This record gives sequence, structure tokens and C-alpha cells, in this order.
Amino acid sequence: MSLLIRNGKIITHRGHFEANVLLWNGKIAVFTKNEPKADEVIDANGKLVMPGVIDPHVHFRQPGIPSEDWASGSKAALAGGVTTVLDMPNTKPPTTTLLELEKKKALISTSAAGGPLVNYGLHFGVTTGNLEEVFRAVGWDSPTLLAASAKIFMGSSTGDLLVRDLETIRQVIRGSRLVSVHAEDEAIIMMHSDKPDHTSRRPKSAAISAIRKLLSVGQQGRVYVLHVTSLEEAELASPFYREATPHHLFLNSSALKELGSYAKVNPPLREESDRRSLWQALLNNMIEAIGSDHAPHLKEDKAKENAPSGMPGVETSLPLMINASLNGLIGLEKVVELMCYNPSRIFSIKGKGKMELGADADITIIDPNLEKKVTADELHYKCGWTPYEGMRLKGWPVITILGGKVAFREGEFYPVHGKEVSYAF
Ligand code: DOR
Ligand code: ZN
Repeated sequence: MSLLIRNGKIITHRGHFEANVLLWNGKIAVFTKNEPKADEVIDANGKLVMPGVIDPHVHFRQPGIPSEDWASGSKAALAGGVTTVLDMPNTKPPTTTLLELEKKKALISTSAAGGPLVNYGLHFGVTTGNLEEVFRAVGWDSPTLLAASAKIFMGSSTGDLLVRDLETIRQVIRGSRLVSVHAEDEAIIMMHSDKPDHTSRRPKSAAISAIRKLLSVGQQGRVYVLHVTSLEEAELASPFYREATPHHLFLNSSALKELGSYAKVNPPLREESDRRSLWQALLNNMIEAIGSDHAPHLKEDKAKENAPSGMPGVETSLPLMINASLNGLIGLEKVVELMCYNPSRIFSIKGKGKMELGADADITIIDPNLEKKVTADELHYKCGWTPYEGMRLKGWPVITILGGKVAFREGEFYPVHGKEVSYAF
């Protein structure tokens, strides 16, 4: 099976160029000015051709939580130009044993009639009592990595995977090849529990304090700090990899007035000055990756008084960044670096995130002139809402290619399925 993408503008993490790309046997086979014969030809004149996005931070909720599943989540991902996701362990039951990890992989491989619509990897949850299993999944001695990282929640959030004990955190970081950390200090959160609103109950000082604790125990290890919300945190976390989410880049605490508890998320949306400072960090190479932290909750739960934290985002993450780029906020190459190349590099995912010969042919084609209003009716989330409802964005994915085959084209899905990624450690 061969597929030729002709006349597109190819965007890599280093630059851009015009060429025809031949995909053959699931790989990128040739960049050329000629027109080699192919089974299928896509005319990408006027379009941007980039590696499929790797979203290192999604919560697809299976098993046990009804607000998303792998059929709907992977559909949303694909329509949003995302071809690989790394899924979080705070499910019911949580992914904290090798048995649960294997069960989750089996469940994913039979989701969406024939498997998930995108490639995937899984994070492994850390508790105070499961270090042996953590090391068998992601430890230095495990011959092959079974998970993308060991995930530590230093602050409580959806689920009950809280690890307060710093000695456990130190041991996990020393023994694991990669550790992802939700860095909010539970002690500081507790100190603010009588505050009137969500934002002040989880202040920036909780994030700063958690990063300080990580610095005190984790500098010899490889640590990926999830959802950094400000320049201050990014600067402090400089020995580590740092992730920003689209919601902290595009929304601020005033969204809480408009959206109420729909805008409730951990860590919380910050002040406009913090949001701006996060952009400054991003543009000054103090953020390595963008993860959507796609954390859907059902509308009925979000409407409750004690609403859970989290918002969906896997389908809007790339359109938001492309729109920002077309508005001159950030280069397209930088978007590819943050959303494709770096996630692949940080998580050592084999063959992905690059537009280069021999790389996996997971590719997203964007129409930079397509302008649409975001509306939950057209997104594919099971939760049926988005915090960006009504926002006008320019530059949407129109074709997503998975393993050299068209998997999504202008609203239609094709029977193409993803696989578990492998890691090149
Ligand atoms: O807001 C959040 N929601 N933050 C998290 O850390 C977890 C997530 C979820 O799973 O709902
Ligand atoms: Zn998360």
C-alpha cells in the first residue's frame, strides 16, 4: 500500500519545505519533487503536512468511568490531528498493578470494533505500596518498558492516587526510567481548604512547593512535570521536562465566572498575568511539551455543587496551537517541536513525531484557511461539552493518516486502527 501526498508544505521541528511525500508500507519512504506512482494520491496544495501529534497526557477513563471511553476518545484524538496518546492511570480500578496494566491493554485492543483509532501508551500509577510493580513496568532493570512512565500525584485529584511520602517519590525517581508528576503539594492544598473558591484552595504556591520538593529528591532522575502553569514554575523546574496544557495557555481564571465549575481543573486556571508568563516560558524554551490533560467529566457531574476537576481537550489542542501560530504567536516548527518531536523524544517512543525518512507514517494535514467555531456538537467527546464553545479558530486538521493509511478525512473515519507504541530505551 502506497500513498502520495503531493504539493503540501511539510513542517518539521526544524523548518519547512515543499515536497511530495511517498508513504510506503506504513513508513515515510521518499521526499521528492517528482511524482512517483502510488496506490492513492492526496493533493495537499495549500495545506500544511506535519507529523501526527503525540498527546502525552490524556484520561480516556476506561475502565470504570463513564465520561469517556477508547472508542470516543480515540475518535476525538484522530479528528484533532492526534495519532498517539499516552493515557493516565487514575481509572477505576487504577492502573497500579501489572495485572491491571495488561487488562487495560486488552480492553483497549478490543475497543472501537477492531481496536483504538490511534496509537497508544499507558502511564503506570504509583502508590506508596507498589514500587516493585512500578519498577517491573518502568524500572531500569526491566528489559522492555511496559508503560510510558510512572505517574505520581503529589496533590489529590480525580481518583485516589495520592503519594505524600517524599521518600517514596525519591525511590521511584531513582529507580524508574521516567516519572511524570502532578506537582501540587497536598500539604499546601490542605492549608488552604477553608478558602472560598477552587483557585485559591490550590494556589500557585502549592505548585511551587511541590517542584521544590522534587528538586530536593529528584535531580538525578528523569522527571516530566505535568501541566506547569506559570513562568515561575517553569524556571524552577528547569532540571526537568516541563509540560503546558492548552487550557492554561488559552484560558485564565476569569473563565470560572463564565463557565462556573466547568472551568474547574487541577491545577486551576491562573490569573491572566500567569497565563502570559506561561507563553513567555514556552517561547523561551522553558516548556518542552504540550499535553492536553484531556480530563472529561459528564455535564451532570460538572453541574453538581462539588464538581470534579478536569476538562476535555484532546480534539482542540492542535487547532488552538495552529490558530495561535497563524496569528503570529508561535512558529509552526515550534508547534511541531512541542506536540510531536519532543513528546516522542522525552518518552522515547520509537519511530514517531518526525517527518523523516523511515519514520512511521503518522501524519496530519491541516487546512490553514479553514475557519470554524468550536462547538461540542461537532467534537467527538462522550462528555458532550468543551470549554472553548463558540471560539473561532483558523487552521484545522482535515486529514489524519495512521501507519500510512487515511484514518480520518473531512469528518469521516476509516477502519484503520492504532497499536501500542514501543519505547527505545
Ligand atoms: O483537573 C484534573 N483532572 N486534574 C487532574 O490531575 C486529574 C484530572 C482528571 O482525571 O479528572
Ligand atoms: Zn491529567
